[in-house]
This record gives sequence, C-alpha cells and structure tokens, in this order.
Amino acid sequence: MVNNLTTAHHLRHEPTLSSRLSKLKAVILGEPLASDDDLILPSRDFSQKALVPSFEKYMEMYKRSIEDPASFWSDIASEFYWKKKWGQQVCSENLDIRKGNIHIEWFKGGITNICYNCLDKNIESGNGDKIAVHWEGNEPGLDDSLTYNQLLDRVCQLANYLKDNGVKKGDSVIIYLPMLMELPIAMLACARIGAVHSVVFAGFSADSLVQRIIDCKPKVVITCNAVKRGKKIINLKDIVDSALSESSQNGISVGSCLTYANETAMKKEATKWQKGRDAWWQDVVPEYSTKCDVEWVDAEDPLFLLYTSGSTGKPKGVLHTTGGYMIYTATTFKYAFDYKPSDVYWCTADCGWITGHSYVAYGPLLNGATVVLYEGVPNYPDFGRCWDIVDKYKVTIFYTAPTLVRSLMREGDEYVTRYSRKSLRVLGSVGEPINPSAWRWFFNVVGDSRCPISDTWWQTETGGFMITPLPGAWPQKPGSATFPFFGVQPVIVDEKGKEIEGECSGYLCVKNSWPGAFRTLYGDHERYETTYFSAFPGYYFSGDGCSRDEDGYHWLTGRVDDVINVSGHRIGTAEVESALVSHPQCAEAAVVGVEHEVKGQSIYAFVTPVEGVPYSEDLRKSLVLSVRTNIGAFAAPDKIHWAPGLPKTRSGKIMRRILRKIASKQLDELGDISTLADPHVVKKLIELADS
Ligand code: PRX
Repeated sequence: MVNNLTTAHHLRHEPTLSSRLSKLKAVILGEPLASDDDLILPSRDFSQKALVPSFEKYMEMYKRSIEDPASFWSDIASEFYWKKKWGQQVCSENLDIRKGNIHIEWFKGGITNICYNCLDKNIESGNGDKIAVHWEGNEPGLDDSLTYNQLLDRVCQLANYLKDNGVKKGDSVIIYLPMLMELPIAMLACARIGAVHSVVFAGFSADSLVQRIIDCKPKVVITCNAVKRGKKIINLKDIVDSALSESSQNGISVGSCLTYANETAMKKEATKWQKGRDAWWQDVVPEYSTKCDVEWVDAEDPLFLLYTSGSTGKPKGVLHTTGGYMIYTATTFKYAFDYKPSDVYWCTADCGWITGHSYVAYGPLLNGATVVLYEGVPNYPDFGRCWDIVDKYKVTIFYTAPTLVRSLMREGDEYVTRYSRKSLRVLGSVGEPINPSAWRWFFNVVGDSRCPISDTWWQTETGGFMITPLPGAWPQKPGSATFPFFGVQPVIVDEKGKEIEGECSGYLCVKNSWPGAFRTLYGDHERYETTYFSAFPGYYFSGDGCSRDEDGYHWLTGRVDDVINVSGHRIGTAEVESALVSHPQCAEAAVVGVEHEVKGQSIYAFVTPVEGVPYSEDLRKSLVLSVRTNIGAFAAPDKIHWAPGLPKTRSGKIMRRILRKIASKQLDELGDISTLADPHVVKKLIELADS
C-alpha cells in the first residue's frame, strides 16, 4: 500500500515518500502501536473522509503552492471577505540580505479585517447561533458559552469602549489576562478597530510587563483583578499596578486600565484601585452598543505584537500583519487538523503565546469552529481534568504540548481510561520535540490508537504551522513532524549555509516566504535582519536543528542557539543571566538548559557570588526570586550551581559547551579544556556540583 504512495521527484527538496517505508514495521490507524512499530498507516476510512486523502493529493497541492504561490494563495484568500481585492502582486519579498533589505508583503493593497472574517462572515453564512466558545472555569462546574452572535456583540461593545477611550487604528493595547472569555474578546475588539494588540502572558512578572509597556506604549492596558489556577490565587491587578507605576516613572504613562472583575478569584472590594485610570469592565463595557463598524485595514497593516525570547537579553517584539496571517492561520488550522464543521476543538495553550493567538483564537474562529477555552490547570482537581473536559464538550480535536503529555503519562493510565474520550478524532502536539515514548502513549492511551497525531513544528515568527502531518494523507512516525505545509520550502543547511540533500542533519532554514511570516521586529528591523537572515544569507534561519531521515521525514532536534525550551516556553539564557546578575550579590552567571523528564529542558544556572559573599541557601533562594521578579515564575532556574569561576577562553568567552556537560553530568565528554584561560575552574565546578 505504501509503495503506491511513492511519487516521482520533480522539484528539488520535494517531499517524497520512499518505497523503503513498506519495509518498516507498521500498524494501521486503529491498531495498538507496539514499542517496536515505526509507522502508523492511515486507515482507509480516515483517509477517505480526510480533506487531503492521500500523499498524491498533497503533492499535487504542494507543488502548485511552490511553483505558483500567487495563484495558490489567491484562490484560498478569495474565500475570505475583502473590502477591496489586493493588487496585481500577491507577494513581494526579498529574503536575501545580500540583495538589500529584507522585506515580505502578501496581498498588499487588499483591504480587509480579520475580526470581520472571524465573526461577521461566519454569522452571515448562517452560523450565528453556533457556539463559538465554550469556556470552562478553573472550578469544575463553572462554565459559560457564547455563540458567534453573542461573541460579536461582546466584541463590538469592547471595541466601542476602546474607541471612546481614544484608541485609534495603529495604536497599541496591552492585554494581560488569563484564559477568560474576555481574552479573545479583547484581541478581536482590537482587531476590529485596527488597533495592534500585544498580549502578555499573565505569568510574566511586573518587570517584564514594564519592558513591554515601554517598548510598545499602549493606550490602554486590559487586565483582571485576579485569577485562580488550581488552588492558587494570583493577584494580577497588583502586578499591573506596579508595572504601570514603574512605566510612568520611565516616562510612559498609560491613561487607562480596564479591569475585568474575576470575582471567583477575588472580590471587587479587595482590589486596589487608582481612580481616574482604572475602570471595571463590567461597569463600563456593557453600556456600549453591540454594533461597531469595522475599521478596514490594508493586508499589510499590523495586527499584533508578541514578545518572544532570543539569544540576547531584550525580548523581541515579533510583528504580524493582517492579510497573510489571516489566510495562513485559517488554512493551516483547516488542513493540519483535518477540520470539519462538526468538530469541537480544544487547544490547551494560553493566548499569551503564539499558539493561543493562531490556534485558540484566529485560526479556529476564521473557520467558524467551536473552541473550548480552559481557565485552569491540567491537574486540578486531579490529573483526569483534561479528559473530563474532553467528555463534557465532546471534544474531537485536542491540541497540546509534549510537556503536558509527559506529566500526565507519569500519573498512570487510569486517570485517562476512566473517561470515555470517544469523541476524539485528531490529536496535536506543539512547542518542543515530542519524544517517541510520549508520542506512543498519547497515541495508544489518550487516542485509543485511532487518532492521528499532528506534531506541528512552527514558531512565534512563522505565525502558523510549517512542518506538520496532514492526518490521513501519509503514514506517521512517532516523534516526527513529517513534511512541510503547503507553500513552505524547508531546507537543512550545514555550518557553511550549504543545503544538504537526502538523509542528513543540520540547521533548519526556509528558502521562501509564506503568508504567515512575521514582517519585522517592532522598532528594530536591523535586528530582524541580523537575527534571522544573516546567519545563512538567502534563507530564514529558524534557530532549530533538524534531521531528515532516509524516507524524507523531518525530525526536529531542538534549538541550536542560546534559547532554552522549558515546558514549551521559550526562554533566552541571556535573559535569565541578566536577571541573576541584577542581584547585588551576584558577580557573574551562565545559564544552560539540561534535559528534563517532564519539562523537556530545565534551567541550570552557574553563579559566581560577589567577592566575599558566602554561598548560602538564603542567597540561592533570593537569586531564584530575582529571576521570578525579573521575568516570571516559569523561568526560575531549577538548579543554582556555585561557581568560584566560569570556564572561559583566553578572550573571555564563556564555554557553555563545557557547562552543559557538567550540568548534565557527562563528565567524560568534556572535550578539550586546554584552551581555557584557567582549566582548573572545571575541576572546581565538578567538585561543587552537588553542594
Ligand atoms: O524549538 C522549536 C520549538 O519551539 C520553538 C518556537 O517557540 P515559540 O516561538 O515559543 O513557539 C512555540 C509554539 C509554536 C521552535 O523554534 N518547537 C515548536 N514546535 C515544535 C518545536 N520543536 C519540535 N517540534 C515541534 N512540533
């Protein structure tokens, strides 16, 4: 059967399914996967109903998307509402720094609005009474839902409020909210009036919020008083208050802080208040009309800013524009999850990250989907909560991160098997490489061996999926993201930037532009060019390593730069280091990632205290606290390793390679240490490893 899927090699780098596949030990979707099976063939039944039923069909579409991207994407874009159609040129791009400034434009001149396409368009096509969002609160039994009609009403009221408070097209709005219904409402309201939203994950500290406020100078900050996650109550308004007061000391004062009263977590009366600046959402927003005209924007007008970590200290404001992002998130969502209008879709990501932007909010709503939004944590009240939610809403597509899969896997199958889960049809994974054993457990136990897993590789910068299975179209291998999405030409290059063919491993780049690509780093186009386009001129460099196996499948191997991926959260080592050295008793710090059974990677910090300061448990705690207050709890190091000195080259460069080996206890792999300015520091570090 697999042999029949083999396709001729027409394009360079064209995905092919090798005939060798037929020799692998395989099961057919529906059969349990044993630990020595390497391949899961789509069942005939699944493929027949799938949007892309075969590899041949995929190849036909893929080839067209590469050979004639303008017509491929125009056809798709035409299914959306445009007030005015884009100009002659669908895409204009220069991705080669040697040929001048990097620029990417899609559908330029086209006039549209993404909120209109998410809501009004779906309502006009008869889906007004369909549930847009099922909201599930932290406490079991606390829930709510909104139809597309109701969601539009709420969005319009907030959009009118924002307009009335001086927010105009192009202005920024910071949204610092947990997973309440109000979070996507706020994003859509901004989009409706052409304002640029910048959602800040509500786990970031006040200092991180200040950094973002200073960078994008929002007209309004939207937040809530508090949130309950599991048994913990987090007072978000306090964090916003201190961020706003610190920002105003730095010359950026935000005139308006709209605060949703989340009374299940905290009573209104207990909330600190600044008269004149603060307003309760529930007091002011419902006063506004449920009709709000759309601000029509150019496809290349900015839609949102999302800050993400890189290898240097300062977070980068990734800027996405409207038209290309809209088409790309909608299309990737549809195909990678084989979306059907009857699906109920749940993505466990928070809207504070790109996954929440593209695949909690925009992608699914553009398709008119019913989305589940969950406020709480997966282990509250117990480790079965996810499957309780799946059964409650009859979730058909469940999209999550490997770290969650691994943490649930540790608790045993019983938490899963006590629920039916029979509604599930497609599973998804994102955020970090999924190890084959977690993949197998997800497949066999959660999906009862009948749900394909879309392991989607992509990034904040890419806007949407880049390498992903299309369920039903080709066989899956546990742990592989498989093949490129339509319009994406991934290449693997060696250290010199030369493309490598066939079975290989190296640096993952992309050689063309796709509609969902970010257009710049806010306020710093030069950094955009140097970070992403100068390492390997002519290509977008992802920062990831990747290998391609003899069957053409892609296997992501993790970051090759100084970025650590902790539970799918991207954290720059430089950010953590600068948080540590901001502590008055810290002279120097070097941070590396080490493998972690559940989180994927954990943060391991080597710290040299200031001369004369002794190592102590108190100092350790206050260093960790320094990272919590500078960045957020999710970036706190798991280990502080005292370092009388750090291994440096004679020119003063820290040899992280050696630190990584010490941290992961691979002491026989330290390699050559003779080039160090002081090779003795290595011995000292090893001695101090367990202190
Ligand atoms: O290293 C890759 C990893 O997450 C990085 C992007 O992080 P961020 O911009 O925060 O976006 C996360 C959600 C898209 C990538 O450079 N990554 C993401 N998805 C995968 C992955 N690594 C392996 N497999 C994936 N499916």
